[in-house]
Amino acid sequence: METVVSGIRPTGNLHLGNYFGAMKNFIKMQNENNCFFFIADYHSLTTHPTPGDLHGSVKQVLAEYLACGLDPEKATIYLQSDVPEVIELYLLLTMNAYVGELERTTSFKDKVRKNPENVNAGLLTYPVLMAADILIHNAAKVPVGKDQEQNLEMARKFARRFNNMYKQEYFVEPQPFNFGENLIKIPGLDGTGKMGKSEGNGIFLIDDEKALKKKVMRAVTDSGPTEMNSEIAEPIQNLFTIMDVVSEKSTLDFFKEKYANCDIRYGDLKKQIAEDINLFISPIREKINDIKSNDEYLRKVALMGAEKARESASKTIKEVRKIIGFRPF
Ligand code: TRP
Repeated sequence: METVVSGIRPTGNLHLGNYFGAMKNFIKMQNENNCFFFIADYHSLTTHPTPGDLHGSVKQVLAEYLACGLDPEKATIYLQSDVPEVIELYLLLTMNAYVGELERTTSFKDKVRKNPENVNAGLLTYPVLMAADILIHNAAKVPVGKDQEQNLEMARKFARRFNNMYKQEYFVEPQPFNFGENLIKIPGLDGTGKMGKSEGNGIFLIDDEKALKKKVMRAVTDSGPTEMNSEIAEPIQNLFTIMDVVSEKSTLDFFKEKYANCDIRYGDLKKQIAEDINLFISPIREKINDIKSNDEYLRKVALMGAEKARESASKTIKEVRKIIGFRPF
């Protein structure tokens, strides 16, 4: 049983790409590991949300993850802001995080370029807070996408520095959790590339039938096959890939055969996909709404998570304080 930590930014909604990608793996991970999943609400303050927006997006993201199958009985699911020990470790780690190295981080430089009017210190120390999130549970593994690899590398660096400074192997150097073959990539509907938040091409789990149908019907296609059994062009293959995860196999085979015989009608294909996506996500959408309207349940989940997380976090903080030299007289 390895300890795994994953932080979830409370921004945006889960789309089909997240569902078949990271989400499926989270569900599996929670059965096989000691998982800590938390909503990174402190991190989200770098963009200055209003109190209403902050609360709303935290609630939304928690409801979506629970609806997809994150299980508070199996994993520790909590809000970052419910665990003050994280902030204490963050402060302690900042003393050994150098301004120069923080300034050189790619994500910091990106943000400075995109928002030169809001280069706050929280943005600069973002990787230190993230390291605290991970090291507070002495996690061995962290599931990260490409964009978070550098932050994880910094967490390792801070762990190593602490260990060297106090001459003991206290912190584990957290490694990326490798999903291996299990990462299904869902393409976008814009012809090429994957479905993603920044790509603006997501079909969200909360999209209603009308909204998702509109998105699917606008999907990029081509002028159609002209030769029997020709190779499937990328935009059409993308539609088939989505069909492969939401439709019956016989439906997919039916349309693939039509393509091979050059008598496929893309309008029919899209209509079918929209219908099957809707069938697939309807129960999830309903569950999200049920959970969202059940404050008592959400409160229970958050309380239980906070208790479990603080148990682990306070143990670490106690040991760290002792190592550093905070001792009672
Ligand atoms: N920085 C991560 C992101 O943008 C979120 C995050 C915060 C995180 N703390 C973490 C992820 C700790 C993994 C571990 O997605």
